[in-house]
Parts: sequence; C-alpha cells; structure tokens
Amino acid sequence: MTFSRSIKIAPSILSADFADFGREIEAIEDQGCDWVHVDVMDGHFVPNLTFGPPLCKAIRPHITTVMDVHLMIAPVDPYIDAFAEAGADIITAHLEAGPHPHRTLQAIRATGKKAGLALNPGTPVEAVIPLLDLTDLICVMTVNPGFGGQSFIAGQLVQIRRLKALIGDRPIHIEVDGGVDPATAPLVAEAGADVLVAGSAVFRGGSVEAPEKYGANIRAIRESANAALHLAA
Ligand code: DX5
Ligand code: ZN
Repeated sequence: MTFSRSIKIAPSILSADFADFGREIEAIEDQGCDWVHVDVMDGHFVPNLTFGPPLCKAIRPHITTVMDVHLMIAPVDPYIDAFAEAGADIITAHLEAGPHPHRTLQAIRATGKKAGLALNPGTPVEAVIPLLDLTDLICVMTVNPGFGGQSFIAGQLVQIRRLKALIGDRPIHIEVDGGVDPATAPLVAEAGADVLVAGSAVFRGGSVEAPEKYGANIRAIRESANAALHLAA
C-alpha cells in the first residue's frame, strides 16, 4: 500500500446484504471503490453486534483492494493477531477502547499491518499527539459508532481541520466515518479527509443483480469530494 492523499471511497459492508458478502464485495470493487470497510462490533464498546475474525477470514479472498478493519471492541489487544491472520490490511482500534492505546498501536504494527486509531465524536483530536509516530490512519467518527444510516455530526468538521494541521506532512490517512454522502463529502474533503467511509450512501438503491447503482453512488461521492478540492472527477 503506497501512501497517497487522493480521495478514496471505502464502502462499509455494514449496509450490504449480510447473506451475500462475497458477491456484494466483488460488486463494489467492480464498480470502482478503493477500499472495503469492515465494521466489527462487540455489543459492549458499542450497542450493536456484527462479526469477528472468522467472517473477516471468509470475506478476505473476495477483497482485491484494501481490507480496512474498524474495531469497535473493548478490549482490543487479545484480538489483534486474529484479525491480522484473517487478512486485514489496516487494523483500526478506538482510542477510547482501553487505557493503553500506545501499546495497542505497537501490537498492531508488530503484526506487519497498518495501524489505525479511531476517535469518537466526544474525543478531542489532540489526544492523538503522543501517538502520531505509531499511526498510519486516524478515523474521525462523524456519527456515534454502532449503526449505519445515522445523521452526520457537522461539529466534527472543526476536529478534522485541527487534525489535518496536527498531522502536517506525515504519511497518515485521515478517514471519516458516518453520514458521508454527496452532500457531506465536499465538507470533509475540504477539511482534510482523504478516506471517505460510506455505507448507506453507497448501497442504497442497488444490489448484486443491479450493481450499476453502487457505481453511480460511489462516483457521486468521489466527484463531489474532488470538486471541493478543485480536482477532476
Ligand atoms: C458506524 C460504522 C460506520 C457505518 C457508516 O459505527 O463505523 O462505518 O457503517 O454507515 P453510514 O455511511 O450509513 O453512516
Ligand atoms: Zn466504521
């Protein structure tokens, strides 16, 4: 994975048909997504339950782009090796998931995978300052984690801008997650985000039988983000 700040669209399979993940993933990749975002929820750190390492292992062969695993679990450390073995390219833990984020990031990096740090809306971005050298990606939640289809928290835009300034030229991706669609994508791109996670806005109105709608949704998000950066679509 070479680092670039170009806008990347990462559909969240939380909004896909759980009974057909393989074909859903192939469909969004065929339709032009850049990464595949995988939301792991434990029913403890967040009030919802999704899936774990076995499901990640099962879908890995269907992912040819980047497997971006978002861990909404606490504790995290006991599961890092299992998600690495399952084939994650990026393993993102929440800063709020435990008392030792520095140790958690070290453990992720020790598996050879990219290390990500996610921040809930209530957490000031300055909390990442002592961790920047251990981080390849910082995910700014733009909803309270746990569900797809929620409204975008506009108050997080100032946090994204502050984070962008903190990061400077370091090769660290700024990911935003929650409520991203063609209306909010320009706002987060202009604020400094380069990885745009989108669940409901990508999968809405499409299916594995009619994947063209996925493509149209992905393009609409990418074009509106690039337009905000005055870049060609
Ligand atoms: C929420 C997850 C998100 C979610 C985004 O906790 O981390 O990735 O699936 O879904 P939308 O884009 O529908 O808000
Ligand atoms: Zn997520």
